[in-house]
Amino acid sequence: MFRLIYPGSFDPPHKGHLDLIARASVLADELIVAVLQNGDKAGQLSLEMRCKLLKQVCAGFDNVRVRTFRGALADFFSEEKATALLRGLRSADDFGYELPMTVVNRGLKADCETLFLAASPEYSYISSSLVRELLRLQKDVSPYVPECIVPELEDLYQEQAGKK
Ligand code: COA
Repeated sequence: MFRLIYPGSFDPPHKGHLDLIARASVLADELIVAVLQNGDKAGQLSLEMRCKLLKQVCAGFDNVRVRTFRGALADFFSEEKATALLRGLRSADDFGYELPMTVVNRGLKADCETLFLAASPEYSYISSSLVRELLRLQKDVSPYVPECIVPELEDLYQEQAGKK
C-alpha cells in the first residue's frame, strides 16, 4: 500500500492544494490530507471548518481521506503506516523552507521520507494568506478557491464582518 500524507494548515484550502491532491491521488493508493491542529500559525478558520471544506474539495476522490493531527508529524506518519509525506513546491524559496523540515522529520523517524511535487504554474502564486486577504476585502476569490467551497467561505467571512 503506497500511502501518502499531505500535511498543512489549509486555512483555507485553495486551488493550489486541489492541484496537488488531484495529482497525488493518481500516484498513491491512498492519500491522507492531514490538517494540523494547534500549529504556530494563528488560524482564521476553526479546525472543524477547515476539515469540512477540505472534505468537500476531496469529495470526488475515492482514495483521499481528510484527517487531523497534533504534535509531531513524524509520529502521525508512523501511526498511519505511511510511505511518505507529500509537499508542494512553488518556488526555490519553498524548497529552502521545506528542506530543514524534511531533515528534521527524518531525524525523528528514519523512514519518514518526503516527496515533492512542483506546483502547476498557474497555481504557483496562490497562498492561503492571499485568499484570506481577498476574503477580508470582500473580493472575488473564485479564481483561487475550488468552486464548491466559494459560497460557504464568502458567507463565513461576511458573518465575521458582521454583515449577516
Ligand atoms: N501545497 C501546500 N501549500 C501551498 C501550496 C501547495 N501546493 N500552494 C500554496 N501553498 C501555501 C499555503 O496556502 C500556505 O500559505 P500561508 O503561509 O499563506 O498560510 C503555505 O503555502 C504553506 O502552508 P502549509 O502547507 O499549511 O504549511 P505550514 O508551513 O503551515 O505547515 C506542516 C507545515 C504542517 C507540515 C508543519 O508545520 C508540521 O509538520 N507541523 C507539525 C509539527 C512538527 O512535526 N514539526 C517538526 C517538523 S519541522
